[in-house]
Amino acid sequence: MTSLDQVVATFASHLRSARHVVTLTGAGISAESGIPTFRDAQTGLWSHFNPEELASPAGFARDPALVWRWYAERRVKACAAQPNPAHYALAQLADLVPQLTLITQNIDGLHQRAGSRNVIELHGSLHRARCTVDGSIHSTWDYEEELPCCPNCGGLLRPDVVWFGEMLPRAALETAWAAALNCDVFMSIGTSGVVEPAASLPRIALSRHATVLILNLEQETAARPPLFTIYGKAGEMLPQLVAAAFHQ
Ligand code: OAD
Repeated sequence: MTSLDQVVATFASHLRSARHVVTLTGAGISAESGIPTFRDAQTGLWSHFNPEELASPAGFARDPALVWRWYAERRVKACAAQPNPAHYALAQLADLVPQLTLITQNIDGLHQRAGSRNVIELHGSLHRARCTVDGSIHSTWDYEEELPCCPNCGGLLRPDVVWFGEMLPRAALETAWAAALNCDVFMSIGTSGVVEPAASLPRIALSRHATVLILNLEQETAARPPLFTIYGKAGEMLPQLVAAAFHQ
C-alpha cells in the first residue's frame, strides 16, 4: 500500500461513518471540465486586465459594458463545459451519507448540472443577473444587449456574483458557517484557500473536531492545519474516495 492508498483508505473509513459531510469546492474542481481556475484565468484577451478591477463595484461603475463582456464570455464557456467525474462523485455522495452540505465558491453551475441539489453558492452564479435598481434576480436576460436592462424597472442589470469588496450573500454564508460548525467530515476540494471567509471554513470544522481533508492539485500557499491531505486531480481522487468508502 502506498502512502496515498493509506490516506484514501483511512479517510474513506471516516466518510463511511460520517453523519454530516460538508464539501467546499473551488475552481480546481472545474479545471478538468476545461474551465480555467481563477488564478489561471488571466490569459488571452483578458491578460491585460486585473480581475480585481473588473470584478469590483468600481470596475463596473467605470465600464459596465467591459465587465458584462467578461462575464458573458465566462458564461458561454461554462455552458459549453460538461461536469467532470469530480462533480458527479459529489452528487453521488449526497445519496450515500445521511447529510451532505455542498458549498461552492464557483459560479459556473456545474455542480447543479451534475445533479447536486441545494448547492450553497457563496460567490453567486454566472447564470443569474441582478437589477442594480430594484434588486430583482433574473435567470435569463437579453444576452445580445451590451448593457442588459431589468424587465421590471428598466434599471441596469449586473451579474449576480460577489465582487471584490462586497459582502457574501448572508443566508448562504450563515448556512455554510453552521454546516462547518456541525459536520463531522469536511472536504476542501480544488481551492487555493486564500479568499475569506470561505478559507476559514475548514478551520472552523477542525476546531469542532471534524475530520478535515484537503484535496488539491498542489500544496496550497495558505497555511492550514489539515488532518488529511491528498495532492491529485479531483476528477480522479473523488471517485476513488467514494468507491473506497462505499463500493468496496
Ligand atoms: P484558485 O484559482 O485560487 O485555486 C484553484 C486551486 O485548485 C489551486 O490550489 C489548484 O492547485 C487547484 N487545482 C487545479 N486543478 C485541480 C484539479 N484538477 N484537481 C484538484 N485541484 C486542482 O481558485 P479558488 O480557490 O476557487 O472569488 O478561488 C477562490 C476565489 O478567489 C474565487 O471564487 C474568486 C477568487 O477571488 C470571487 O470572485 C469572489
